[in-house]
Amino acid sequence: MCGIVGFIGKKQAAPVLLDGLAKLEYRGYDSAGLAIRNGNELAEVVKSQGRLKILAEKTDNGNALVGTCGIGHTRWATHGEPSRTNAHPHVSGNCTGTGSGQVESEVVGVHNGIIENFTELREKLLKHGYTFYSQTDTEVVIKLVDYYYKKYTHDPQEAIAKTMVRVRGSYALCLMFKSYPGEIWVARKDSPMIIGIADGETYVASDVPAILKYSRNVYYIGNLEMAKLTEGTATFYNLDGDQIEKELTEIKWNAESAEKGGYEHFMMKEIHEQPRAVADTIHSVIKDNKIDLSSIGLEEEQIKNISQIYIVACGSAYHTGVVTQYVMEDLAKIPVRVELASEFRYRKPLLDKNGLVIVVSQSGETADTLAALRLAKDKGIKTLAIVNVVGSSIAREADNVFYTLAGPEIAVATTKAYSTQLIAGYILAMQFALVRNEIDEDKLAQLITELRTIPQKIEKILEDKERMQWFAAKQVNAQDVFFIGRGIDYAVCLEGSLKMKEISYVHSEAYAAGELKHGTISLIEDGTLVISVLTQSSLYEKTVSNMVECKSRGAYLMGLTTYGHYGIEDTADFTVYIPKTDEHFAASLSVVPLQLMGYYLSVSRGLDVDKPRNLAKSVTVE
Ligand code: M6R
Repeated sequence: MCGIVGFIGKKQAAPVLLDGLAKLEYRGYDSAGLAIRNGNELAEVVKSQGRLKILAEKTDNGNALVGTCGIGHTRWATHGEPSRTNAHPHVSGNCTGTGSGQVESEVVGVHNGIIENFTELREKLLKHGYTFYSQTDTEVVIKLVDYYYKKYTHDPQEAIAKTMVRVRGSYALCLMFKSYPGEIWVARKDSPMIIGIADGETYVASDVPAILKYSRNVYYIGNLEMAKLTEGTATFYNLDGDQIEKELTEIKWNAESAEKGGYEHFMMKEIHEQPRAVADTIHSVIKDNKIDLSSIGLEEEQIKNISQIYIVACGSAYHTGVVTQYVMEDLAKIPVRVELASEFRYRKPLLDKNGLVIVVSQSGETADTLAALRLAKDKGIKTLAIVNVVGSSIAREADNVFYTLAGPEIAVATTKAYSTQLIAGYILAMQFALVRNEIDEDKLAQLITELRTIPQKIEKILEDKERMQWFAAKQVNAQDVFFIGRGIDYAVCLEGSLKMKEISYVHSEAYAAGELKHGTISLIEDGTLVISVLTQSSLYEKTVSNMVECKSRGAYLMGLTTYGHYGIEDTADFTVYIPKTDEHFAASLSVVPLQLMGYYLSVSRGLDVDKPRNLAKSVTVE
């Protein structure tokens, strides 16, 4: 999704903006641009299509643009094709060519999000004599700010407030006004934005990694709020123009965690960070062999009264929900429904008033998941969010928050956040089971002891990663791959298949092994790779039978099971073993070889592992 960075201070702005935008590249983009202002002089806009390095080359790494105040943007096309003209910043007045050069206009700005009523607003502005140069909704919103600015009191705050009332949709807006040098104005609704303060400097960004190097002290700007940024200060306003007081929050992530640290790709670095991330998440709520959910705010009485759990999420976060469903129902005996947030929000769900809606999200900004959370709250259902990004919209709006401690995840393909979400799910299931007397203290202690071994078992799997590298290289020409498993193994197959698809562009499907016969098996041909996951002993024989069915139709079989199940070698052509664990936690181990498989296949095919085509890290639009 799009990225925003803004800076005002004593040093040159352009290099800071380019550096910040580079930190947001992982979010996905197709073009980029900067607007820099030098004191009272007019702003200078430079835009380019394609990678950020083109913009950097064009501006001599920012050195060609003089000025200590500026805004920058990486665009991920929604309205209008990827092009230099559609790239941000956009301006309120007339522009020539693709919109680069000195800006006579009153307003210049960048925007993340989607303006839903942009056609209607465009019509209105056309009638008032405005001309449009791009196909974007952003140009409409910038011109609308200009329209209200000129119509009323030439006050940025009032013009922005009037615009916010008039537009529908989501936005993080970052604007400069010609008549107000030394100021950047920002506003947001349903699109992330943070403001960082350092000595005499103010930063604004759509995501933490962009400013982490410069400032750890941030303000979270709320929905339907705006702010005036000057050197080292931020003044916040609500829609009525009243000033709002805010507290600075310290970001605990360190800057190194947002760098590659010697790995070729962020994804491999993050795969290797899993033992640490999992251990940190476990230790955040397990102390002295007891689970302490007080930081999350879940009361025992509340846990006892839960009639039904709804887990709602998207993508990999949804997959962790599927694992949690199996574990929660088995341990705590609470009925669980897992739902895709994009479906949940529109299907008019009938929710039990004593139910608990658990939303799961790494970014805490996924538009569908946020909408699902709001829907649950509107219906008066208690909500709990499992979130990685502190201060994100979902974290702020949920009744209770279980923070995963994965640290910043940069690769588009999630790995460590997925693993920590699994841990959060297990811990909730274990504690709910204890409180509801489905397990006793001894069983809990046994589960905790086992859970604590997961980080070192992941380490052990990673020590043998070259085996997956070798196997993946052999599959470089694979066309279709099937993942099969039952129960928790099926849930892991969903994730293994997504990892393969999203970064190696190989078509793959995950199937509940017993479902294969109901149609999909007709796709198995000579040499089709079928990856089977078998970590659940009660389902082992059943899945082996399904593997045999595939093999007799020509499939090439990979079996992924636990040490000890050596009989698998009679059926599988290639076998991967993972350490034994309590079977409830098996997904935490079986997913690792599948992450490696996706990674190495992508590398073998010469693809951009961290920034797969068409994808964005955080999907903040529907
Ligand atoms: O930030 P979220 O966890 O809400 O994101 C949800 C999905 O977009 C995400 O898990 C996506 O499927 C992953 N990038 C897949 O690796």
